[in-house]
Amino acid sequence: MDQERLLRELSEFLSIPSVSTMSAHDADVRRAAEWVAAELRRLGCQEVEFLGSDVHPVVWGVGPEVPGAPTLLIYGHYDVQPPDPLREWVSPPFEPTVRGGRIFARGAVDDKGQVFALLKAVEACGTPPVNLRFLLEGEEEYGSAVLFDLLRKQPQRTAADAVLVADMAYIAPGWPAVYNVLRGICYAEIHVRTARSDMHSGEYGGAAPNAHEALVRLLGRLKTEDGKIHVPGLYEAVRRPSRQELAAWKKLPFKEREFLKQRVGGKALTGLARYSVLERLWALPTFEIHGIVGGFTGEGAKTVIPAEATAKVSLRLVPDQKLSRVERQFATAVRKHTPKYADVSVKFLHGADPAVVKLDHPVFGILDRAFREVVGRGVVPVRAGGTIPIVPALGQRGAPVVLTGIGLPDDGLHAPNEKLDLQQLWDGIEVFKRFYELFGAEGRQ
Ligand code: BES
Ligand code: MN
Ligand code: MN
Repeated sequence: MDQERLLRELSEFLSIPSVSTMSAHDADVRRAAEWVAAELRRLGCQEVEFLGSDVHPVVWGVGPEVPGAPTLLIYGHYDVQPPDPLREWVSPPFEPTVRGGRIFARGAVDDKGQVFALLKAVEACGTPPVNLRFLLEGEEEYGSAVLFDLLRKQPQRTAADAVLVADMAYIAPGWPAVYNVLRGICYAEIHVRTARSDMHSGEYGGAAPNAHEALVRLLGRLKTEDGKIHVPGLYEAVRRPSRQELAAWKKLPFKEREFLKQRVGGKALTGLARYSVLERLWALPTFEIHGIVGGFTGEGAKTVIPAEATAKVSLRLVPDQKLSRVERQFATAVRKHTPKYADVSVKFLHGADPAVVKLDHPVFGILDRAFREVVGRGVVPVRAGGTIPIVPALGQRGAPVVLTGIGLPDDGLHAPNEKLDLQQLWDGIEVFKRFYELFGAEGRQ
């Protein structure tokens, strides 16, 4: 492998600020799509198309036909999360920098670096003995609306013998993973109004309603300090993991204390105390506040009673919760918990059902072998706390969806100083190459 050339190419890809949730970056998202399309053409795809949108297109590619060989659909995303807080980055998020055997940039692991590994594994094969299809989207970090719409109209795009998704991580260094559950998500904006306009806090304070106070009271009622979410009916559909699954989690290289000290760096963990930390991360719904907008946050001091306030929040969903039901339950709970003196509205920005994958198909044995041969250990089955909205739809025609990845737990996705260890990248390319070869030979059985 010509590592220097590969690093140059990866840096080029990572330099494009393809932030899908910010319209100011529309042209950059488009540029990233073009980078991906050019790469697919270079890899020998005769058919390379932009589908669904000119702004955040799905890049579709069809590899050279290999008669009689199985078909593998490769999914990934080329968009990234916003890079803020910028001050926290040691090197700028869109100026990829190698330090200590790691490449630092927004998207280094989520998911550009992993898409890059999947593509370079094709290159490393020369002509892979498998029919490859590529479905690489530019809106995963914003709910995948374009791709949902495309697959509703053209479900045959997912026709394949298996789907490969590399957008996840090892469970610990040296421990590759395969995922059997991803949580879903319900993302909402709550808006509160308490008066016609902002007011002097001396002239009106003591009698006039404060929108930020109304909002924090509401938020405080939606989840109490014990970790319980007060959305009536929310827990009804929650299915407890089987005893075997819980027992298997106990054997994983995961220590609650280390998680707190090394990964979180906080004083204490939160959540429902009677469940293990892994159960809280993987098998229970969450309610998180992402940000509160409005009021006075500028330099210095201003004495004002804000008339309106907005919070961005989300719930994570677990099997067998359904997004449509959770949306209704949540909207009702918000109205119930809002102080009487405030008007409230809820706007849902995006959402996804949880995904469940049965690991009984031979393709999972192939993945296990590929990792075993390259990194010396096979894959351990685990769940993910995060969401990939389109995964349930990728499996809708019955093809097994292989959820795996080459990241490490400390990569810092969605956070400042996101990175990818270069050894993970080089190994990852070898693993995917081996996976294509083995799947081409055995994937149709
Ligand atoms: N790659 C992540 C999903 C992920 C993260 C899986 C951690 C497993 C562990 C993906 O890019 C992501 O961040 N998804 C968003 C989806 C949302 C914006 C609709 C998420 O989970 O917040
Ligand atoms: Mn991702
Ligand atoms: Mn992400």
